[in-house]
Amino acid sequence: MALTSPRTLPYDWYADPQVLRLEQERIFAHSWQYVARVDQVAEPGQFAAVRAGHVPIVLVRSRDGALRGFVNICRHRGFVLCEGEGSRETLQCPYHAWTYDLDGSLRAAPRSDREPGFPRDDLGLLPVSVARWGPFVFANPDPEAPPLEETLGELPALLRSGGVDLDGMAFRLRADAEPYDANWKVIVENFLECYHCSVAHPTLAKAIDVSVDGYRLETHPTFSSQIAEPRNGGGGVYDAAGELGRGQFHFLFPGTVINVMPGRQNLSIGPVLPDAPERTTRFLDYFFAPDTEQAWVDDYLALDDLVGAEDRVLVERVQSGLRTGAVPHGHLLAESEQLIAHFQALVVDALGAEDH
Ligand code: FES
Ligand SMILES: [Fe+2]
Repeated sequence: MALTSPRTLPYDWYADPQVLRLEQERIFAHSWQYVARVDQVAEPGQFAAVRAGHVPIVLVRSRDGALRGFVNICRHRGFVLCEGEGSRETLQCPYHAWTYDLDGSLRAAPRSDREPGFPRDDLGLLPVSVARWGPFVFANPDPEAPPLEETLGELPALLRSGGVDLDGMAFRLRADAEPYDANWKVIVENFLECYHCSVAHPTLAKAIDVSVDGYRLETHPTFSSQIAEPRNGGGGVYDAAGELGRGQFHFLFPGTVINVMPGRQNLSIGPVLPDAPERTTRFLDYFFAPDTEQAWVDDYLALDDLVGAEDRVLVERVQSGLRTGAVPHGHLLAESEQLIAHFQALVVDALGAEDH
């Protein structure tokens, strides 16, 4: 598929359970995705139940200090092993009390001593790949995944060159959104263009320059970036003065978004998690410099909440159009929507689809 193809993906790819199953198998099961913060699993014994795409994962800080990840499913009969987060000596399944060590090995299974040849050594939790980038934990359900750095590519350097100091920021809050009634690709594609910003986000358009000349789009092998300048110091919406001269909105394929607004040290990061063909979950973890006044953060979050609410209406209304099947596909603007074309090419490529 040419990156400049003006056709969108076929609209039946946005509601078909078989397409989602393929995407789960071929994309999400083999991709690095943001899953948690390092502070959630900093101390030996700490665990956190998270998700990479559809795959439930338990992150564990082992006694030796290593950060590990396992498929969060009991090897006995499939019970989801851990919920939430906390601290444990071992991971015990609440169904029949199989007990796993923090390194994933099966330590005890009640009555297994009565079963000659019980293959205890083969029944450890299935490992996944986990890696740290600054304050972030990424996971890839594929235990043989190539290093996270290969996927991140130039992204850390890009953030740094824009003045973002990842290690100088501290986690402030997590915003959990209600699930969206939309396919995950609709949500990603809405993130990937600001063509709609002057129409649908009038307040955001006062704070940052969303015009063709002021808003830069970049594609990279594994991610794409939108770079924005502030307008009139934030246009009275929030105070855009600070160390960060421009906004950066990154999308790491297939489902991690990173937002940085112009102004003081700030960043939000979170996954796009497909629940069902027409249902998607998201959350965002927000980081700010520790001394950032709450009043500044409140203005910033008010803008973010407003834009988020506006986007929810957009994506759910797109989904209600796509799902009818009455129109076979859409038409992209090769310039303003080039990041969507890039994303769709990555989807087609990962699915091994001939074309669309
Ligand atoms: S399903 Fe976990 S112990 Fe039975
Ligand atoms: Fe938007």
